Amino acid sequence: MKRIPLAQASRTLRLQVLRHNPRDPASEPHLQTFEVEEADSMTLFIALTEIRERQDPSLQFDFVCRAGICGSCGMIINGRPGLACRTLTKDLPQDIVLAPLPAFELIGDLSVNTGKWMRGMSERLETWVHNQGFARLDIDSLEQPMEPALAEQIYELERCIECGCCVAACGTARMHEDFVGAVGLNQVTRFRLDPRDERSDAEFYQLVGTEAGVFGCMTLLGCEDLCPKELPLATQIAFLRRRMVAAG
Ligand code: SF4
Ligand code: F3S
Ligand code: FES
Repeated sequence: MKRIPLAQASRTLRLQVLRHNPRDPASEPHLQTFEVEEADSMTLFIALTEIRERQDPSLQFDFVCRAGICGSCGMIINGRPGLACRTLTKDLPQDIVLAPLPAFELIGDLSVNTGKWMRGMSERLETWVHNQGFARLDIDSLEQPMEPALAEQIYELERCIECGCCVAACGTARMHEDFVGAVGLNQVTRFRLDPRDERSDAEFYQLVGTEAGVFGCMTLLGCEDLCPKELPLATQIAFLRRRMVAAG
Protein backbone atom coordinates (compact mmCIF):
# COMPACT_ATOMS: atom_id res chain seq x y z
CA MET A 1 0.00 0.00 0.00
CA LYS A 2 1.33 3.39 -0.96
CA ARG A 3 2.09 5.58 2.06
CA ILE A 4 1.05 9.19 1.93
CA PRO A 5 3.73 11.32 3.64
CA LEU A 6 2.48 13.17 6.69
CA ALA A 7 2.44 16.92 6.33
CA GLN A 8 5.36 18.41 8.24
CA ALA A 9 4.21 20.13 11.40
CA SER A 10 4.76 23.85 11.11
CA ARG A 11 7.26 25.32 13.52
CA THR A 12 7.15 28.30 15.78
CA LEU A 13 10.31 30.19 14.93
CA ARG A 14 12.11 32.10 17.64
CA LEU A 15 13.93 35.08 16.17
CA GLN A 16 16.36 36.82 18.46
CA VAL A 17 17.07 40.22 16.97
CA LEU A 18 19.84 42.55 18.09
CA ARG A 19 18.12 45.83 18.90
CA HIS A 20 19.94 49.14 19.22
CA ASN A 21 19.31 52.73 18.29
CA PRO A 22 22.70 54.52 18.15
CA ARG A 23 21.00 57.93 18.12
CA ASP A 24 19.33 57.30 21.48
CA PRO A 25 21.84 57.70 24.34
CA ALA A 26 19.60 55.54 26.55
CA SER A 27 19.60 52.64 24.08
CA GLU A 28 21.65 49.58 25.08
CA PRO A 29 22.31 46.82 22.52
CA HIS A 30 20.24 43.79 23.49
CA LEU A 31 18.62 40.72 21.97
CA GLN A 32 14.85 40.76 21.71
CA THR A 33 12.98 37.52 21.00
CA PHE A 34 10.00 37.35 18.66
CA GLU A 35 7.95 34.28 17.81
CA VAL A 36 6.58 33.72 14.32
CA GLU A 37 4.57 30.80 12.91
CA GLU A 38 6.53 29.44 9.98
CA ALA A 39 4.71 29.35 6.64
CA ASP A 40 5.48 27.57 3.38
CA SER A 41 8.36 29.16 1.42
CA MET A 42 8.83 31.73 4.18
CA THR A 43 11.93 33.87 3.83
CA LEU A 44 13.58 35.79 6.64
CA PHE A 45 12.37 38.94 4.96
CA ILE A 46 8.74 37.70 5.25
CA ALA A 47 9.26 36.71 8.90
CA LEU A 48 10.71 40.14 9.74
CA THR A 49 7.93 41.92 7.87
CA GLU A 50 5.38 39.92 9.85
CA ILE A 51 7.07 40.97 13.09
CA ARG A 52 7.09 44.60 12.03
CA GLU A 53 3.45 44.54 10.92
CA ARG A 54 2.00 42.55 13.82
CA GLN A 55 4.33 42.82 16.78
CA ASP A 56 6.72 45.76 16.69
CA PRO A 57 6.47 48.56 14.11
CA SER A 58 9.71 50.07 15.44
CA LEU A 59 11.88 47.18 14.17
CA GLN A 60 14.39 48.51 11.63
CA PHE A 61 15.68 46.49 8.68
CA ASP A 62 16.15 47.28 4.98
CA PHE A 63 14.78 45.83 1.79
CA VAL A 64 13.83 47.10 -1.65
CA CYS A 65 13.65 44.36 -4.28
CA ARG A 66 12.93 41.20 -2.25
CA ALA A 67 14.67 39.30 -5.07
CA GLY A 68 18.41 39.35 -4.30
CA ILE A 69 19.04 42.27 -6.65
CA CYS A 70 19.26 45.51 -4.66
CA GLY A 71 21.67 44.27 -1.98
CA SER A 72 19.96 46.15 0.85
CA CYS A 73 18.84 43.27 3.11
CA GLY A 74 22.25 41.92 4.15
CA MET A 75 22.50 40.90 7.81
CA ILE A 76 24.21 38.38 10.07
CA ILE A 77 22.07 35.25 10.16
CA ASN A 78 23.14 32.78 12.85
CA GLY A 79 26.68 34.13 12.65
CA ARG A 80 27.01 34.30 8.86
CA PRO A 81 26.39 37.25 6.53
CA GLY A 82 23.53 36.68 4.09
CA LEU A 83 20.55 38.23 2.34
CA ALA A 84 17.30 38.09 4.32
CA CYS A 85 15.18 38.00 1.17
CA ARG A 86 17.04 34.96 -0.22
CA THR A 87 17.17 32.96 3.01
CA LEU A 88 14.39 30.42 3.49
CA THR A 89 13.46 29.79 7.11
CA LYS A 90 13.14 26.05 6.34
CA ASP A 91 16.92 26.02 5.87
CA LEU A 92 17.46 27.43 9.36
CA PRO A 93 16.98 25.96 12.82
CA GLN A 94 14.00 26.99 14.94
CA ASP A 95 16.16 29.48 16.83
CA ILE A 96 17.49 32.25 14.62
CA VAL A 97 19.80 35.03 15.80
CA LEU A 98 19.94 38.14 13.65
CA ALA A 99 22.43 41.01 13.93
CA PRO A 100 23.40 43.93 11.69
CA LEU A 101 26.36 43.60 9.32
CA PRO A 102 29.53 44.73 11.12
CA ALA A 103 32.01 47.17 9.48
CA PHE A 104 29.19 49.50 8.41
CA GLU A 105 27.63 52.46 10.20
CA LEU A 106 24.64 51.27 12.19
CA ILE A 107 21.39 53.07 11.43
CA GLY A 108 19.35 51.01 13.89
CA ASP A 109 18.62 47.34 14.70
CA LEU A 110 19.39 45.40 11.47
CA SER A 111 19.73 48.45 9.24
CA VAL A 112 23.24 49.62 8.29
CA ASN A 113 24.53 52.29 5.93
CA THR A 114 26.27 50.20 3.26
CA GLY A 115 25.65 52.99 0.73
CA LYS A 116 27.96 55.40 2.58
CA TRP A 117 30.74 52.78 2.77
CA MET A 118 30.36 51.82 -0.90
CA ARG A 119 30.40 55.46 -2.02
CA GLY A 120 33.61 56.11 -0.03
CA MET A 121 35.26 53.00 -1.51
CA SER A 122 34.14 53.94 -5.01
CA GLU A 123 35.55 57.47 -4.71
CA ARG A 124 38.89 56.19 -3.40
CA LEU A 125 39.24 53.60 -6.17
CA GLU A 126 37.71 55.85 -8.85
CA THR A 127 35.42 53.10 -10.03
CA TRP A 128 34.18 54.67 -13.24
CA VAL A 129 35.42 54.56 -16.84
CA HIS A 130 38.26 57.07 -17.29
CA ASN A 131 38.17 58.20 -20.89
CA GLN A 132 39.02 61.56 -22.40
CA GLY A 133 36.07 61.03 -24.78
CA PHE A 134 33.76 62.12 -21.95
CA ALA A 135 35.40 65.56 -21.80
CA ARG A 136 35.25 65.94 -25.62
CA LEU A 137 31.76 64.44 -25.74
CA ASP A 138 33.25 62.09 -28.31
CA ILE A 139 30.64 59.33 -28.32
CA ASP A 140 32.49 57.32 -31.01
CA SER A 141 35.51 56.78 -28.80
CA LEU A 142 33.22 55.57 -26.02
CA GLU A 143 31.00 53.31 -28.08
CA GLN A 144 33.49 50.84 -29.46
CA PRO A 145 32.38 47.26 -30.17
CA MET A 146 33.65 44.79 -27.59
CA GLU A 147 34.52 41.11 -28.00
CA PRO A 148 31.57 39.07 -26.63
CA ALA A 149 33.89 36.97 -24.45
CA LEU A 150 35.33 40.12 -22.84
CA ALA A 151 31.86 41.66 -22.42
CA GLU A 152 30.82 38.44 -20.70
CA GLN A 153 33.85 38.59 -18.38
CA ILE A 154 33.03 42.19 -17.41
CA TYR A 155 29.36 41.36 -17.00
CA GLU A 156 30.28 38.54 -14.62
CA LEU A 157 32.09 40.98 -12.31
CA GLU A 158 29.24 43.51 -12.61
CA ARG A 159 26.85 41.05 -10.99
CA CYS A 160 28.00 42.45 -7.63
CA ILE A 161 25.00 43.99 -5.83
CA GLU A 162 27.08 45.85 -3.22
CA CYS A 163 25.35 44.02 -0.38
CA GLY A 164 28.40 44.21 1.90
CA CYS A 165 28.38 40.51 2.85
CA CYS A 166 31.99 40.07 1.67
CA VAL A 167 33.12 43.00 3.83
CA ALA A 168 31.25 41.68 6.87
CA ALA A 169 32.78 38.23 6.29
CA CYS A 170 36.34 39.53 6.05
CA GLY A 171 38.60 39.63 9.13
CA THR A 172 40.86 42.22 7.47
CA ALA A 173 37.95 44.58 6.82
CA ARG A 174 36.89 44.20 10.45
CA MET A 175 40.40 45.10 11.69
CA HIS A 176 41.33 47.82 9.16
CA GLU A 177 38.53 50.19 8.37
CA ASP A 178 40.31 51.58 5.30
CA PHE A 179 40.54 48.14 3.62
CA VAL A 180 38.59 48.35 0.35
CA GLY A 181 37.36 44.77 0.67
CA ALA A 182 36.76 42.13 -1.95
CA VAL A 183 33.99 44.30 -3.38
CA GLY A 184 36.48 47.13 -4.07
CA LEU A 185 39.12 44.86 -5.55
CA ASN A 186 36.45 43.24 -7.72
CA GLN A 187 35.50 46.66 -9.07
CA VAL A 188 39.08 47.57 -9.88
CA THR A 189 39.43 44.32 -11.83
CA ARG A 190 36.21 45.13 -13.66
CA PHE A 191 37.44 48.58 -14.84
CA ARG A 192 40.90 47.27 -15.63
CA LEU A 193 39.32 44.81 -18.06
CA ASP A 194 37.23 47.52 -19.75
CA PRO A 195 38.97 48.61 -22.99
CA ARG A 196 37.23 52.00 -22.82
CA ASP A 197 39.11 52.80 -19.60
CA GLU A 198 42.33 54.56 -20.60
CA ARG A 199 44.15 54.10 -17.29
CA SER A 200 47.40 52.16 -17.46
CA ASP A 201 48.09 49.03 -15.40
CA ALA A 202 50.48 51.15 -13.31
CA GLU A 203 47.68 53.61 -12.49
CA PHE A 204 45.36 50.78 -11.46
CA TYR A 205 48.03 49.16 -9.34
CA GLN A 206 48.76 52.46 -7.64
CA LEU A 207 45.14 52.50 -6.48
CA VAL A 208 45.21 49.02 -4.95
CA GLY A 209 48.88 48.17 -4.40
CA THR A 210 48.66 49.09 -0.73
CA GLU A 211 47.79 47.59 2.64
CA ALA A 212 44.28 49.01 2.14
CA GLY A 213 44.15 47.06 -1.13
CA VAL A 214 45.53 43.71 -2.33
CA PHE A 215 48.38 43.61 0.18
CA GLY A 216 45.90 43.85 3.06
CA CYS A 217 44.10 40.69 1.94
CA MET A 218 45.18 37.72 4.04
CA THR A 219 43.39 35.18 1.82
CA LEU A 220 40.85 34.43 4.52
CA LEU A 221 38.34 33.41 1.79
CA GLY A 222 35.22 34.42 3.75
CA CYS A 223 34.35 36.85 0.95
CA GLU A 224 34.15 34.16 -1.72
CA ASP A 225 32.44 31.64 0.58
CA LEU A 226 29.66 34.04 1.52
CA CYS A 227 29.11 36.23 -1.54
CA PRO A 228 25.42 35.69 -2.39
CA LYS A 229 26.20 36.20 -6.09
CA GLU A 230 28.95 33.56 -5.93
CA LEU A 231 31.55 35.84 -7.47
CA PRO A 232 35.07 34.37 -7.66
CA LEU A 233 36.42 37.06 -5.34
CA ALA A 234 39.51 35.39 -3.85
CA THR A 235 40.49 34.22 -7.33
CA GLN A 236 40.23 37.82 -8.62
CA ILE A 237 42.34 39.12 -5.77
CA ALA A 238 45.01 36.45 -6.34
CA PHE A 239 45.03 37.33 -10.07
CA LEU A 240 45.39 41.06 -9.33
CA ARG A 241 48.23 40.35 -6.91
CA ARG A 242 50.07 38.13 -9.40
CA ARG A 243 49.75 40.78 -12.12
CA MET A 244 51.13 43.42 -9.79
CA VAL A 245 54.11 41.30 -8.85
CA ALA A 246 54.76 40.46 -12.53
CA ALA A 247 54.53 44.18 -13.45
CA GLY A 248 57.16 44.87 -10.79
FE1 SF4 B 1 27.91 41.37 -2.07
FE2 SF4 B 1 29.43 39.67 -3.47
FE3 SF4 B 1 29.32 42.23 -4.16
FE4 SF4 B 1 30.58 41.52 -1.94
S1 SF4 B 1 31.16 41.00 -4.04
S2 SF4 B 1 29.21 43.24 -2.14
S3 SF4 B 1 29.29 39.83 -1.23
S4 SF4 B 1 27.63 40.77 -4.20
FE1 F3S C 1 39.15 39.19 3.21
FE2 F3S C 1 38.48 37.78 1.14
FE3 F3S C 1 40.97 38.58 1.43
S1 F3S C 1 37.81 37.45 3.21
S2 F3S C 1 41.26 38.68 3.63
S3 F3S C 1 39.20 39.88 1.11
S4 F3S C 1 40.28 36.64 0.61
FE1 FES D 1 17.00 43.42 -2.37
FE2 FES D 1 17.20 41.50 -0.52
S1 FES D 1 15.71 43.07 -0.63
S2 FES D 1 18.58 41.96 -2.11
